[in-house]
Amino acid sequence: MRDNRKKDGWDEHQIVNKLKIYQEEHQRLTVLFNITRNISTELKLDKLLLIIMDEVRRALKADRCTVFLLDSERKELWSKVAHGEREIRFPSSLGIAGYVAKTGEILNIPDAYADPRFNQEIDKKTGYSTRNVLAFPMRNKLGEIIGVFQVLNKYEGLFSRQDEQLLDAISAIAATQLENAQLYEDQKTTLESFVGTLASTIDARDPLTAGHSNRISLYSDEIAKMINLPQKRREILRYAALLHDYGKIAIREAILCKNGSLSMDEYCHIQEHAMFTKNILKKIHFSRDFKEVPKIAASHHEKMNGSGYPEGLIGDQIPIESRILAVSDVFDALTSKRHYRDRMEFENVMDIMMNNAGTHFDRNIIDAFKKIRIDRLIEILEIDYIDQLRQEDLRYLAHFEVRHLLEVIKDGALNNEEDKMENLFYKYYQRKYFKSEDNEIQDDKIIGPSLKYANC
Ligand SMILES: [Fe+2]
Ligand SMILES: [Fe+2]
Repeated sequence: MRDNRKKDGWDEHQIVNKLKIYQEEHQRLTVLFNITRNISTELKLDKLLLIIMDEVRRALKADRCTVFLLDSERKELWSKVAHGEREIRFPSSLGIAGYVAKTGEILNIPDAYADPRFNQEIDKKTGYSTRNVLAFPMRNKLGEIIGVFQVLNKYEGLFSRQDEQLLDAISAIAATQLENAQLYEDQKTTLESFVGTLASTIDARDPLTAGHSNRISLYSDEIAKMINLPQKRREILRYAALLHDYGKIAIREAILCKNGSLSMDEYCHIQEHAMFTKNILKKIHFSRDFKEVPKIAASHHEKMNGSGYPEGLIGDQIPIESRILAVSDVFDALTSKRHYRDRMEFENVMDIMMNNAGTHFDRNIIDAFKKIRIDRLIEILEIDYIDQLRQEDLRYLAHFEVRHLLEVIKDGALNNEEDKMENLFYKYYQRKYFKSEDNEIQDDKIIGPSLKYANC
């Protein structure tokens, strides 16, 4: 019997062992806690994958970790590499990851090159040298395999039984969050296609305003970037922009598509579209984040001085996103061919926009609009002909903003650069870039100022 044994307890050796086990358990729980905390708020699939890969690599003290997700429809495994910029895909029957996805076995391979399932070609291509591999199936709550963890090159020694257990626990947490993220992205895709379809039904009703909703969403996003609107609000703005005129579905076609000026009654009927937009969109179930879409969309004809419709809201009562829509909407109406006129001269358009700053429009939003880069402005204006825009011209115009152009229009070009910028801008604005055989667009005339932008 050893000296240090106590009658009624553990000896020193046992205590040291127990302490070590507790320490390891504590370390394991800390790792799991940190991983749970770090991944629980991320719903973007790409980012989530990268976070999980990094966390696992650190937790297992290994050089690399890849999470492959199973795409059962295409029978492929896929992942993100190079900071999420590149996607890799391969048949789900190939390599170690493929084997694990198929069999559900855990593979702890001490010498990768000695295992026939290991595909040495990848190492040959990348110059990487794989020593050992721990590959682990990732299962959802139903026990179905949804992906595979592949961890490479333990820093010291080989992957242990403890590493497998730790990866088992991480896998359960990661699987839940990855499924949530996939579900969220699926829902977003469904909403996107639904909103896109609704927007195109409005375009289909009136071919002359075709593309209006899409362009509004693009101009609005440029403005949103200028005022640093948070990403979530930019998404809300996008949906509201695409749907802002949806109420026009309830406007009589004879009035909506009328050539020539409108009577007061007809004008009032058209104005009703904003309220219709709200009433129709309110019937759609928007999830918590997008609840404000109907109100934002319906308030695009409100004016800062309270003289707008449908509610006559004043200043800050108008949601910021609606104030953005108001600017984009009128700009697009004035720069598009309409029933009652063609594209207006750019200086007249901007005069109208600036003269109405403070009364109709929010001054800050007009200022933000002036900061839009000219290449982006042209890309949106001429989005239907985007393939015909010369990349070289756009790269040149990227050095200038709308406010620079306005200065040149007002004071004249001060140097060759400004002169070139102005010429390039008008080349696209006045559609001089079309070849003569493209007669449909050649027919467009640029006409003088008009304050009639009611039908937008
Ligand atoms: Fe409208
Ligand atoms: Fe509109």
